[in-house]
Amino acid sequence: MSIHFNQDSKIFEIDTNHTSYVFGINQSGGIQHLYWGNKVKSGDCNRLLVPMLRSSFDLHIENEREEYSPWGGMFYAEPGLKLSFSDGVRDLKMSYASHEIKEDSLIITLKDEHYPLEVDLVYMVKEQFDLIERNAIVRNVGKDPIMLENTSSAVWMIPDMNEYQLTYSFGYWGGETQIKKQNLSEGKMVLESRKGITSHNHNPWFAIDNGNASEESGEIWYGALAWSGNWKIVIERNTYNNLRVVGGINDFDFSWLLEGGEIFETPVFVGGFSDKGFGHMSRNMHLYERNCILPKKHANTLRKVLYNSWEATGFSVNAENQISLAQKAAQIGVELFVIDDGWFGKRNNDKAGLGDWQINKEKFPEGLTHLIKSVRDMGMEFGIWVEPEMVNPDSDLYRTHPDWVLGFSTRKGSLGRNQLVLNLAKDEVKTFILSFMTELLSEYDIKFIKWDMNRAVSEPGWNEAPLKRQKEVLVKYTKNLYEIWRTLKEKFPDVMFESCSGGGGRIDLGIMEYADQFWVSDNTDALDRLYMQEGFSTMYNPKTMVCWVTDSPNGFNKRNLSLKYRFLSSMTGALGVGGNLRKWSDESLEDASRYIAVYKQIRDMVQNGSLYRLSPPSTGNTVVQYVEDKGRGSVVFMFNQSLNFGMNKFHVRLKGLFPDVSYKVTIDEEEPFTMSGSGLMNVGLTIKYKGEYDCKLIRIVAE
Ligand code: DGJ
Repeated sequence: MSIHFNQDSKIFEIDTNHTSYVFGINQSGGIQHLYWGNKVKSGDCNRLLVPMLRSSFDLHIENEREEYSPWGGMFYAEPGLKLSFSDGVRDLKMSYASHEIKEDSLIITLKDEHYPLEVDLVYMVKEQFDLIERNAIVRNVGKDPIMLENTSSAVWMIPDMNEYQLTYSFGYWGGETQIKKQNLSEGKMVLESRKGITSHNHNPWFAIDNGNASEESGEIWYGALAWSGNWKIVIERNTYNNLRVVGGINDFDFSWLLEGGEIFETPVFVGGFSDKGFGHMSRNMHLYERNCILPKKHANTLRKVLYNSWEATGFSVNAENQISLAQKAAQIGVELFVIDDGWFGKRNNDKAGLGDWQINKEKFPEGLTHLIKSVRDMGMEFGIWVEPEMVNPDSDLYRTHPDWVLGFSTRKGSLGRNQLVLNLAKDEVKTFILSFMTELLSEYDIKFIKWDMNRAVSEPGWNEAPLKRQKEVLVKYTKNLYEIWRTLKEKFPDVMFESCSGGGGRIDLGIMEYADQFWVSDNTDALDRLYMQEGFSTMYNPKTMVCWVTDSPNGFNKRNLSLKYRFLSSMTGALGVGGNLRKWSDESLEDASRYIAVYKQIRDMVQNGSLYRLSPPSTGNTVVQYVEDKGRGSVVFMFNQSLNFGMNKFHVRLKGLFPDVSYKVTIDEEEPFTMSGSGLMNVGLTIKYKGEYDCKLIRIVAE
């Protein structure tokens, strides 16, 4: 049993394999946070459960240590919950009412002292991964409606430290999931999305340390939010040196009318503690995602090597070019052929056709079945691109249903990539998407869907909804999106889904419950990708990180990189190929088939093993190592960027091996040699690069 309550001290203790999380019921009935970190006994925290009165200006400092702070009384920090009762009262006075402990869950119920309002604080313990999933359920147990204005999932209190450093992900289209560090001084740092999607700019997670944590050492408190719509994480260091992290659905342009008898359930905000640095944090998250989040059917299966036609043919797809690309793809060992945008309606560019999901007969006179059969006959599975949430004004769908898009009645909606956003909050839109997707997947032998979303949401008006409900629109949108994915996954359990939003605009734990993998970025430059892949893998499992090998010079930044560099960079995740294979020389195709064959031998380690980021891209030498679950094998990828001052040697010490086991080590195609695990981890290997942008693949197998 990982959860205990001490009736005498009124203290709750939640234990995971290596951590304790402790809070108690204080004198005023508030739930006061006491401790989060390495394992302790709850009794060690007894002396912390005291009021923290100071002066009449800062009366209730203890409130600022609350597990979930409803706004009311003398509380001034970022609240967990803010609302208006139907009589106009906006003040909340909530305190502990009861609790329920089950095997691995704890629910604390708070009640308002006057109004029929209850809040459940839910804690689900993921012992094995040192994580706690938290969320809140707001219940209107009366008759009058309540207007919710801010309903966070959780408040995380970080222990007192002299310094606080925030690690987070930032980016933009073509440069998603880069890592940044920021020292926090008094005030707030807000990470958020107001774009209706998770966004390319920030990703919903945080990690806090005292400025000294490194990849393999130091204490880190971290969390990630499972929400793919507007979200907000506020990291607030107050002037009493408390650091609180409040996160959930963004309260910007949001409200929710909670009628009598209704509940509002917030998304999960998972949190954890690592005393072994960022690498350990990532590995815990990767395991958690594989075991608890990813769709069960494919969580532990291997991702297939895919080919995607987007960079080769753009919108000009047709039966002839797709079949000839498929032939080349099959020749080099691709297992899944994916046709991208342009196969439907009058979709010859991004100006028309979106919304008309019928096969374009001019491009595919013999229909989709013919293409699929050709691909299947070549021994590959078939996948297809869709963008169901969108519509071009120049489409039959828009001409028939102009009222289906998001927008305000007196305003002309902004176009993004010449398209408008369908209002998924509407039942008829949800039904439309579900029915055309069901038809597509029932009629054809399709095993993979790439679900795209190519613009940020704007002008989120929902004119037909009652005035008081119009600001619910983007939350309903996201909930319906999940419902669509859930229904399709249930109906078509064998079909794998990729979440794409013009690259990495929709990567988060919320959609991961339905998505088997993610498109990281439209920027496929193998070097830029190393930076983005570092950031991606910080929170998300490498098996979900789709990386294509494309042409050189790269279309995005014109950089020339060898085929080897491009392959090795992509082999650190779920390998795909996206180059124009019809233009590749026979020699390149042969090399490609060799790399794909190698990837198939090592992919179990990459996709199901443990990741060690031995050296970050910012050093100019990226080194990542994957270790097979049982430590019997490993693979190391090394990438050099520049060779200044003739410094061509790089020393690397490996991780995660058995010290006493003897391993066969093969660097690229060189003569193998033998070293002990202890030698590889302590003495290490000195690698010599042959020039700029050289790279190495080191394979290590227990003898
Ligand atoms: C954006 C995606 O990220 C690309 O891979 C491609 O699918 C295009 N959309 C198609 O419009």
